[in-house]
Amino acid sequence: MIIYVYGTGCGAGDLVDEVLPAERITAFVTREGGASFLGRPVIPLDELSGREFDLLIVASRDAERVERLLRERGIGPDKVFYLKNHTVCVDRNQSCERAKEVLGEDYVNRIGCSERLIRVPLWTKTERISGEGSENDYVRLKTLEAICRRLSSVPGAAAELGVYRGGFARWISALLPERTLYLFDSFDGFDPIESTGEGKGFTEAHKNTSADAVLAALPHPENAVIRRGLFPQTAQGLEGERFALVSLDADLEESTLAGLRFFLPRMSAGACLLLHDYDNPKLGGVKRALERYEAEHGRLAAVPLCDVNGTLVIAV
Ligand SMILES: C[S@@+](CC[C@H](N)C(=O)[O-])C[C@H]1O[C@@H](n2cnc3c(N)ncnc32)[C@H](O)[C@@H]1O
Repeated sequence: MIIYVYGTGCGAGDLVDEVLPAERITAFVTREGGASFLGRPVIPLDELSGREFDLLIVASRDAERVERLLRERGIGPDKVFYLKNHTVCVDRNQSCERAKEVLGEDYVNRIGCSERLIRVPLWTKTERISGEGSENDYVRLKTLEAICRRLSSVPGAAAELGVYRGGFARWISALLPERTLYLFDSFDGFDPIESTGEGKGFTEAHKNTSADAVLAALPHPENAVIRRGLFPQTAQGLEGERFALVSLDADLEESTLAGLRFFLPRMSAGACLLLHDYDNPKLGGVKRALERYEAEHGRLAAVPLCDVNGTLVIAV
């Protein structure tokens, strides 16, 4: 069976770790193509147009954009399975039979009929967050927008620990255009000492990024400050900084705890820290880090969100 997977990010990495060994994938596909991923070739999308295949699994969260790109190249929905269907408001998976054959019925039912599916109108013309890329987690993005609207009188910079490809950072940049935006990431994946228990797909996928690509994706790169390398070492010199908004999205326990310890004491009154993956059963270290921090410093004022991966909004 000829199977292609669109994307070389964490969606594709998780797919390989959980259900579809890389040897069964004919090639990965990205817009431009590139170096191999998990030992398989990565071909450009335009090369796919002329090829026969049985199933194209779209592992990208950016389903709206990918759907448009496929349509423009005459690739219809009948052999396409959208893995991130639970994060979008449109049910794009018209035929799951082939996907069930390849991935198993249980897995496809879980993805295709997720209890987390968000079926709500996505945006109106008056809202700032709209357009392609905004549909991947409606609740997370709209909460960010609502919080940013309340920050006008709160002094301090914005920051994200765990930037990856800038998927969330670009919305922070759009919503807080005047603020300094510190971006902390190795841009080369997790600390190898900390990530020994993680799947190969997960760890390799997070290396597929670069600081330059992130800067190019930001609406206001002039205010971004890249702190490349392993946190918390990369926070050195910023001990006197104050923060109004922090996105903490480091996935693993020790890095998350280091982020809580660094940022929370430096947040202005009225500031918010968004702890991503707090309620994500696949990343239990995030909740453990929060529990350890609360054991050290007492219970925090926080509200859990019903977004895709269970963000906790910590209010200062
Ligand atoms: C899930 S990704 C971030 C996703 C991003 N916030 C988004 O919403 O699109 C996690 C990132 O954390 C980074 N990371 C984790 N621990 C780190 C550490 N100690 N120092 C630097 N980067 C770290 C990884 O390199 C990876 O890019």
